[in-house]
This record gives sequence, C-alpha cells and structure tokens, in this order.
Amino acid sequence: MTAALLEVDGLVKQFGRHGARAVDGVDLRLVEGEALAIVGESGSGKTTLARCLLGLIEPSAGTVRLCGADLASLPRRRRRAVRARAQIVFQNPLASLNPRMTVERLVAEPLRLHAGLRGERLSERVDALLGDVGLDAGHRRRYPHELSGGQAQRVAIARALACEPSLLVLDEPTSALDVSVQAQILNLLADLRDRHGLAYLLISHDLAVVRNLCTRVGVMFAGRLVEVGEAGAVFAAPRHPYTAELLASAPGAGRAALMAGEEAADPGGPRRSGGCHYAPRCARRAELDGPEACARDRPTLPDGADGAACHFALATRREGRAHHDEGVSL
Ligand SMILES: Nc1ncnc2c1ncn2[C@@H]1O[C@H](COP(=O)(O)OP(=O)(O)O)[C@@H](O)[C@H]1O
Ligand SMILES: [Mg+2]
Repeated sequence: MTAALLEVDGLVKQFGRHGARAVDGVDLRLVEGEALAIVGESGSGKTTLARCLLGLIEPSAGTVRLCGADLASLPRRRRRAVRARAQIVFQNPLASLNPRMTVERLVAEPLRLHAGLRGERLSERVDALLGDVGLDAGHRRRYPHELSGGQAQRVAIARALACEPSLLVLDEPTSALDVSVQAQILNLLADLRDRHGLAYLLISHDLAVVRNLCTRVGVMFAGRLVEVGEAGAVFAAPRHPYTAELLASAPGAGRAALMAGEEAADPGGPRRSGGCHYAPRCARRAELDGPEACARDRPTLPDGADGAACHFALATRREGRAHHDEGVSL
C-alpha cells in the first residue's frame, strides 16, 4: 500500500467562539504523487481547509498528519521541517510576493532559509528553479510589479518548489490570471507534476481546471466533504445532489463553473447543527417530499471508500455513460 502523504481526520475550524464552522469535520487522505481536487462554491471552506493542512492556522479539532507526522504534536523545529514538505501557491501571486524583493531574492529566500544554500550553489539553484518554471535569467533583477500576472505566478511556483516538497497545495492558482495565461500555467503545473512526481491538492471552482490537473475530486459544501471519487466518474454520474447542482450550473466545457455561487447571499450554505447542511437547498429532498432523516441525521461519506454523504444519494447510471467519458469506472 502506498504511504499516505497527507492524512486528515475530523478536521474542524471555527473562527471565534460563536462563529460558524468554516470546516466542519473533514477526513481525507492523499498518497504520494496523487492529484486531488477540492471543488465547491465560494465560502464553502476550501481555503480554510488548505490553511489548516499546512499548519498556517490551528484547527479547532481534528488531526493533520503530513508524511506520517502529526503536525500539532511535533516539537517546533521538527514541525518546520515537516511543514516544508508541503507548499502552497495562492490565487493572487502579486499579493503573495514581497514587493520589495527582486525575483532573484524571492526565489533565493527559501533556499537560504531551509536548505542553507549560499554563494555559487545558491545562484545555480535559483537559475535551475527559474528555468523549471519557464522564466529566463533576464527576470532575475525584476520586482513583482514589473512582472505580468503569469510571470508572477511562475515566481510563486518557483518559490514553492525550492525546498523540493512532496505536496503542492494550489489554491485557485489560475483564477486571478487572464484567460490567455491560464492555460500556460495549467500546462506548467501538469508538466511539473510529471517531472517532480509531486502530489497536488488543487482547490478550484473551475471544473475545467480540475479536469486538466486531477484524477480525484472531493466536493465541498458548507465546510463538509459531500462527495469523493475519481474525477471522471463524479463528473459523469454525480451521486450527491449538490454535485449534480454544481455540474448543472457548469454547462458546456464547465468553465468558470461555480461563479454563480460567488454571488449567492449565503454562498457557503447554512451551517446547522443537526442533519444535512445541504437539505434546505436540496432538489432531491424536495422531490422525495422532505424525508425527516435529512433534517435530523448528519449524512457521512462511506468509510474509506468513494461515494456521497447523502441519505438518498443518486443512483449511478451505468448504461450509456462509458462513451461520454473514457476511462470512467463506476
Ligand atoms: N480569518 C477568518 N475569520 C473569520 N471567518 C473566516 C476567516 N477566514 C474564513 N472565514 C469564513 O469561513 C468561511 C469559509 O471561507 P473560505 O475558507 O475562505 O472559503 P472558500 O475558500 O471556499 O471560498 C466563510 O464563511 C468565511 O467568511
Ligand atoms: Mg478560497
């Protein structure tokens, strides 16, 4: 069995004592080299989940194990080393780069700090990293404001790669970029994954991006994972009514799929104490004339298997599906 790179159990993050739970009991597992996408509309808790996974914020409950080590129980020094195994690339590269540092310094910084490189070796490694992300030496002396959005994101990716991580968390890595640049960055990410054997946890509301980069997908609604499975299978035959809603709102190629959610009054959905978070909005529940279980019992994902956290999950339709999406196995 492949060793788990990331194991998350019962993760909860509540902001403030009386605040809603931005992440409300998430379990997930990622193995070496795997590419998992987390999709869900704005406000569903994706970024909060990512920040907990990387130890950037403390979870309120639950555990995060990275490379087999529980982050919370590690001594500070060891924690830093383990945390470096996972790096994050944020949505807005210009906001994530120090405006007073040149590209050269930005890329050198993690190498100095974590790998202790100096002088010639440092300089060579900076060149290699810039080459890796498709920037030439001419960019070394530039400041972030002198870069295009795509170039700045390449610098952010080079920084993330500096310590040779096993896992890259990509939080909407292309959504702040011009459409014409998005494909280039996606190609770069696909290429880097192949070359470095990286695992990806991709957060996106754009199903086209997910299809490009990921083999597995987890669908998040109101702080919970409501469906997990192979991307092809989930997209071809969603089992959770929310996944079905999400796909229905993404016509054609599925570009900018979940944008509608960004405008919604309560984008993350209600966080109620009992029952299913999705129940008030659920077409399936309405169709079944509001069964009580939806309001009473919290639906859970099947233990360690693909499926949906729904009392009345949609049956997977086997016939007539295979030819829509090659390689789908249901
Ligand atoms: N630092 C914070 N303090 C208080 N509430 C927060 C904070 N960060 C996020 N939230 C809330 O948590 C919920 C999930 O947010 P977020 O994780 O950013 O969702 P997503 O990335 O899916 O859009 C939202 O309701 C948001 O307002
Ligand atoms: Mg976010």
